[in-house]
Amino acid sequence: MSEIIAVLDFGSQYTQVIARRLRECNVYSRVYRYDTGAGELRSDGVTGIILSGGPSSVFAENAPVPDRGIFDLGVPVLGICYGLQLMAHILGGTVGKSVQREYGRGTLTVGSRSELFSGIPRSLRVWNSHGDKLIKLPANFHAVARTENSDFAAIEDEEGRCYGLQFHPEVFHTEYGTDILRNFLFRICRCRGDWTMAGYIDMAVQRIRERVGERRVILGLSGGVDSSVAAALLHRAIGDQLTCVFVDNGLLRKNEVEAVEKLFGENFHMNLVVAREADLFLDRLKGITDPEKKRKVIGNTFIEVFEAEVEKIGEVDFLAQGTIYPDIIESVPIGGNPAALIKSHHNVGGLPERMKLQIIEPLNQLFKDEVRKLGEELGLPRSVVWRQPFPGPGLAVRVIGELTPHNLQIVREADAILIEEMKGADYYYKVWQSFAVFLPVQTVGVMGDERTYDYVVALRIVESIDAMTADWAHLPHAFLQKVSSRIINEVEGVNRVVLDISSKPPSTIEWE
Ligand code: XMP
Repeated sequence: MSEIIAVLDFGSQYTQVIARRLRECNVYSRVYRYDTGAGELRSDGVTGIILSGGPSSVFAENAPVPDRGIFDLGVPVLGICYGLQLMAHILGGTVGKSVQREYGRGTLTVGSRSELFSGIPRSLRVWNSHGDKLIKLPANFHAVARTENSDFAAIEDEEGRCYGLQFHPEVFHTEYGTDILRNFLFRICRCRGDWTMAGYIDMAVQRIRERVGERRVILGLSGGVDSSVAAALLHRAIGDQLTCVFVDNGLLRKNEVEAVEKLFGENFHMNLVVAREADLFLDRLKGITDPEKKRKVIGNTFIEVFEAEVEKIGEVDFLAQGTIYPDIIESVPIGGNPAALIKSHHNVGGLPERMKLQIIEPLNQLFKDEVRKLGEELGLPRSVVWRQPFPGPGLAVRVIGELTPHNLQIVREADAILIEEMKGADYYYKVWQSFAVFLPVQTVGVMGDERTYDYVVALRIVESIDAMTADWAHLPHAFLQKVSSRIINEVEGVNRVVLDISSKPPSTIEWE
């Protein structure tokens, strides 16, 4: 890796967005903790540094500050919002406490020539969100642009290679924001912009080989995007030293086990172990109706099965996980412990500590769309790379109430029909999730001359960006009608199909 821009994270909600924007310009960028030492940044060979925004005030008691040494590294530094104030404060300027935060749009007027604004109109709409305000510049700095509220909306010390923006160039609402960042990258940091996914694969493969050497790695394959891409990347790097363990918990979708065996075992020729433990899982789940209890039982049984499989494999040194960038990087809890938070469901229940394995996370620098791009580059099919999210506890949380082989069979068959139709009508990849839910409710129906007393299946089809909020997808009635009649005709035990038209919030995407 020859070119890297460090984004020091002072807790802004936009920190990751900055890193993404830079990568979109084909320059590799990484988020670092705000207090990362200058020595570490030098040894990583950073080409430039960006100080992110943040919720703090430079006057706050626990205000996060960077290592002063970053200003002596000789690489350009760009402070954004709180980053600008920090930079000015540290370098001898004066920041004034503001009673009111400035939020939202403003008009920026560029007053003097600056590399940062090269090729950009003199007047543009920008997005602000800050409290304090710079009132006196540090020595050697001059103002480049102002807004209605600030004479120092953009400042610089060209000689010292320090730049500051009071607004957020990384957000969509700032006009020419990406161009400003591009100017920083290409005119000021003199980046080449040659970061590509193919280049990333070469680098990642080399790193994995160096770290693993001759030793062995196991990976719990779930069939989801992240673990599948991690498996393909590791396999590219270390081939047979990787063993993938796929647990068939009996809660998977129709033909899922076969598809995984075919793709990873036959096509990729990976060492693949399939632990067929459906009976064990179903046995443990007997009589359980509480959703959280189901999750616990499934999680614990998974660990048990996985450990037993690893035991059989013998000497293993590393546990690989498909953790991706947004899983590790969360806003730094300023004032408290600044350790990055790790979302719990991505850790397989403390497995690595128990098994004394080292963790290897080959995707932990990538955003979701980059993981997909990587997967495509590594030859994974669209059906894997663009697969809809599927919960870890699988169909168990889509059978309301007790899980029985009969109820599971119904939801699995109904789900398969829905997926087939969604794919056939080209809706599958356009929505966030689409699935069937088994309801333990019997209703009256008539089929032929007979009265039936069968179960209900609900269809849940939602659109979403990040699963935090979701809305039900408004698909054509003719399509819904076809799915409904196919399910009722083809799935034994179902005589009624209903459509879930609730949004999240207040409902959730899954029913349990
Ligand atoms: P909810 O139902 O909370 O779901 O709106 C949000 C997203 O998370 C998925 N989900 C899970 N994923 N284990 C997982 O790995 C779980 O226990 C789980 N519960 C929900 C859900 O499918 C949706 O994408």
